[in-house]
Amino acid sequence: MENQKRRSETAPDASAKANDDDEWVSTDDAIEGALGLDDDPSKLNSDNWFEPTAPLMEASTYHSETTQLQQDTEEVVIESYNEHPSMEFLYERHVQYVSLCLTRPMPSAYTMLDANHSWMVYWLVNSFHVIKHRDSELSKELAPDDDVIANATEAWINDDGKGGIGGGVGQIGHMASTYAGVLSLVLTRRFDILERIRTGLYEWVMSLKNPNGSFKMHHNGEADTRSTYCALVVATLLNIVTDEFLVGVEAWLDQCQTFEGGFAGVPGTEAHGGYTYCALASYFLLHKEPTFKGLDVPNLTRWLVSRQFQLEGGLSGRTNKLVDACYSFWVGAAIPLIEIATKTEQLFNRYALKSYLLRVAQNSRGGFKDKPGKSVDFYHTNYSLMGLSMCEYLTKLKTDDANELMAFRFHHEPLADDVHTEATNPVFGLPEVFVSDCRGHFQQLDGH
Ligand code: FPP
Ligand code: ZN
Repeated sequence: MENQKRRSETAPDASAKANDDDEWVSTDDAIEGALGLDDDPSKLNSDNWFEPTAPLMEASTYHSETTQLQQDTEEVVIESYNEHPSMEFLYERHVQYVSLCLTRPMPSAYTMLDANHSWMVYWLVNSFHVIKHRDSELSKELAPDDDVIANATEAWINDDGKGGIGGGVGQIGHMASTYAGVLSLVLTRRFDILERIRTGLYEWVMSLKNPNGSFKMHHNGEADTRSTYCALVVATLLNIVTDEFLVGVEAWLDQCQTFEGGFAGVPGTEAHGGYTYCALASYFLLHKEPTFKGLDVPNLTRWLVSRQFQLEGGLSGRTNKLVDACYSFWVGAAIPLIEIATKTEQLFNRYALKSYLLRVAQNSRGGFKDKPGKSVDFYHTNYSLMGLSMCEYLTKLKTDDANELMAFRFHHEPLADDVHTEATNPVFGLPEVFVSDCRGHFQQLDGH
């Protein structure tokens, strides 16, 4: 059998050298090593074992900046795996990190995020609630102050919703900041504010609708799958979806699926995990049953599962790009969705993704980062925690209540006794309990 070269080799213990560039092994050996069969065949069926192993794909002889970056990343990831053998979840550190970020003045580097106040608040408050709180004293002491959160969010609302929600005080309404602002009001259960602004928000969202079924992000702004998803989330949560709102929406989304299988932001461009999430989640906001007429589900499935790296365990956002913890949600939330769409279980290696999150992306002082060498931040913390939740539960569609949209019909089965996260709704990006409270509130108010 032809020999192949291993790019890098797993070190079974922390002292071993990570990079064996010159080692040549037979294909059989490589496969056995990769699956861990040389150590213990029972590991193959184990759901709590992950060891970074060399990719089975033969390393390309073509070298470029892209292949170099991939190789460098594999090396730092292996280093991190070796330095952090434990799967411990640093509960207290994360709660303290989130609380400090919400209450302390921000470092000057954050001035560039001035148009993202509503995002930052959502990322942090949501992070707090996605964490499963075992220490009730600490969680009570450091819980975000709902009044402060809701008052801040209220200050970003323009003209009682008729101008959308901005990213800060005095800023124009933007579909993404409106989405984040609405989610923060759901997280603080301020349904009174949402009731007050929902008619105005409906008018504003409809003023951004294009004749082709897409929505603009803001007046004179771009339209892509993000804005469709944000508009659908806001309208669905507030129970203001109309036939007029829905005209052309799905047909436009269908056009964004690319030859690769994933979705681009707009028709004819590159498939990307973020845009794919927005599109796939949107179908769950449009339908009651997992039938997707205009969608190539097998091609989407193949593209999604190809996002998981064998060695890193984590996910990338597009072909030939690097692992990044935030895709644990953008692509990771597609795991339950595509499992529902294909009526298949465990299409991804959840334990491998969880290993990347806890042993590579988790910061020892709290919070999560994209990958080794990057700094911890609010955004990666929120999407890593939600990604962790995708790994900790199996999510299925409830069979009762068939008149309800799929996005409101998830039920979640924990895969272990010691989960660190709350069951999270993969379509709304919120712990499930907040989604059902909001749905219950507006259903009761409107009688449907
Ligand atoms: C990086 O692209 C882009 C991201 C990390 C964000 C992608 C997420 C979205 C488009 C979804 C947004 C969702 C809402 C609700 C507004 P890159 O080119 O820097 O990174 P890459 O190299 O990993 O592709
Ligand atoms: Zn990222």
